[in-house]
Amino acid sequence: MRIGVDYYPEAWDRSLWEKDADLMQQTGVEIVRLAEFAWCRLEPKDGEFAFEWLDEVIDILTKRGMKVVLCTPTNCPPLWFYEKHPDSVQTEKDGRKTRKGIRGHRCINNADFLRYAERIIDFMTKRYADNKSVVAWQIDNELEANFCFCDTCIGKYRVWLKSKYSTVEAVNKAYGNVMWSGEYSSWKQIEPPFGSYPDPWLNPSYMLDFNRYASDSVVEHINWQADLIRKNIPDAKITTNVWFCTNMPNFYDEFRGLDFISYDNYPTTRLPDNPEECYTHAFHLDLMRGVKRDKFWIMEELSGGLGCWAPMGRTTSPGMIKGYSLQAFAHGADTVVHFRWRNAAGGAEMHWHGLIDHSNVPGRRFAEFADLCKDAKALKAVCNTEIKSDVAILYSPEDEYAFKIQPQTNGMYYMEQPMLLHSAFTKYGLNVDIIDQRADFSGYRIIAAPQMYLTNADVVRRLYEFTENGGTVIITNRSGVKDEFNKCIMQQLPTAYRSLIGAYVEEYDPIGWDEARLKLADGSVYKCRRWCDVLHTETAEVIAEYDSEFYKGKPAITRNTYGNGTAYYIGTITEKSLYNRLVRDILTQADMPFVDGLPDNVEITTRTGNGTQARFIFNNTNKEQHFSIGSEDITLAPFEMKIDIS
Ligand code: GAL
Repeated sequence: MRIGVDYYPEAWDRSLWEKDADLMQQTGVEIVRLAEFAWCRLEPKDGEFAFEWLDEVIDILTKRGMKVVLCTPTNCPPLWFYEKHPDSVQTEKDGRKTRKGIRGHRCINNADFLRYAERIIDFMTKRYADNKSVVAWQIDNELEANFCFCDTCIGKYRVWLKSKYSTVEAVNKAYGNVMWSGEYSSWKQIEPPFGSYPDPWLNPSYMLDFNRYASDSVVEHINWQADLIRKNIPDAKITTNVWFCTNMPNFYDEFRGLDFISYDNYPTTRLPDNPEECYTHAFHLDLMRGVKRDKFWIMEELSGGLGCWAPMGRTTSPGMIKGYSLQAFAHGADTVVHFRWRNAAGGAEMHWHGLIDHSNVPGRRFAEFADLCKDAKALKAVCNTEIKSDVAILYSPEDEYAFKIQPQTNGMYYMEQPMLLHSAFTKYGLNVDIIDQRADFSGYRIIAAPQMYLTNADVVRRLYEFTENGGTVIITNRSGVKDEFNKCIMQQLPTAYRSLIGAYVEEYDPIGWDEARLKLADGSVYKCRRWCDVLHTETAEVIAEYDSEFYKGKPAITRNTYGNGTAYYIGTITEKSLYNRLVRDILTQADMPFVDGLPDNVEITTRTGNGTQARFIFNNTNKEQHFSIGSEDITLAPFEMKIDIS
């Protein structure tokens, strides 16, 4: 395991560089990320490059045995560039140009921006092509799906639509545009979702396609940058760093042309009081690993209390800095880079805390980081291991877009059910993969397929096949609702999944903030929230029935035998404890080994391969935990990770 830091030498006095590098070296830092926001110092005037300072920093780090990740600085073109090319600033939904002086506000399709970006990337990659210290390249910083509304982007959007549909008639049919007389008769009438009008009033089919285009647009830009880097450095290892932002690109598409995943991991420093709230950080880590089904990097890791444009949050409690880094490793990261070496003294993010405070006196957080660096060295052997999982959860960025466009009912959001299922499997000490619906299902024994909202015939076929061949599948409410264009399917829900689950939805009740109840055969009662599918069984057996509302006594959760396998259907969203119970039964029925009796939010993962087996047990709570695994008694301090390597 490699530990690194994000470092901004351009913001610090030259006299600090060597002192900082000395301390990094003594502490055991192995990798340093540089330059993603440094364009104004790398090209202070149009065409006048000034890379000497960066050469010097790389040299200082190299002399101390450290490696470097260089970033293309395209997130923040200098203000002289905007002055010359004012059109290159992004255009907001309301048609106004984004305010300059923040960041990430260049239009990634603007010809002037692309010309200048190409020039600096070319210069930079030629300069460092033979520098052995540069081990990876990061494209830009946290690129979001492209929601720019300038004329160039509108043109690109229409080209995207034309290549998908060929004719406006086909668009009208796909979107059902006859509603509200929305039929187009020319391409020019098709505009992006401008204006302050609330998005839910717009056609969801059109909105879904706009989200798809916005993702494709940024993916095209990422691939364009990757090609530029590879032109001068054919064997460059290229990534871009992502997080769960508002305008999320489709991660699977985003990383297809890149070498590895990088994720910016900022687990919450204040754990929720309500145990029903989903806060599992492990979920996001498993999702990131699943994007390429490979090891990944954390390019920015939590180091202190958050706060920049937002009010400051609580600081990291003892154990968090080390525990969360090791947790990332336990879930498949092999490099963890901490954000940032030292709090910025200036700029909007001066209160986003790094490893060292403004005083420049290394304190408690730094001591914990130093300890982590020592521990990480001992884990080198584990880097060549893999996480093998029998359980997969399907995650679909497109279903998530569709849920954001139409949030179904009060309080409902796409990630809730995948997270509840993930936390239930985690409770039994299992590795869990979170994968694309288009990924290969072979090798898994259980596939949880929550909210298969948009229907793709190939995915449906493969889920049937998986179950028929002996797999266990878990389908939930809001499955089979829409076709691929986000239009409703005229069949009884869950439409394509009806034979698989052996039941259909007679009607549904979007209960939102209200509460209903369900009852199991043994009489135990659980609360339901958000959504209730009232089921009618055909071949399925009933596991739980509603215990309130006018549908009291009707099935809520069912199990069906299909071929050699089993299909569960969960028609509502219920308490965390019921997911735990269901998953325990599912594991027992599937005859799969599991660990019983783990406290909530204590996680076990295993990495295996090359003759090594590593078991990670992590206390992701702020309380000491005592428990037993077989005859082994274990006590873990808050956020402590226990690692056993054999
Ligand atoms: C990340 C971003 C960093 C920094 C950090 C703290 O999302 O990539 O540049 O802004 O958040 O705010």
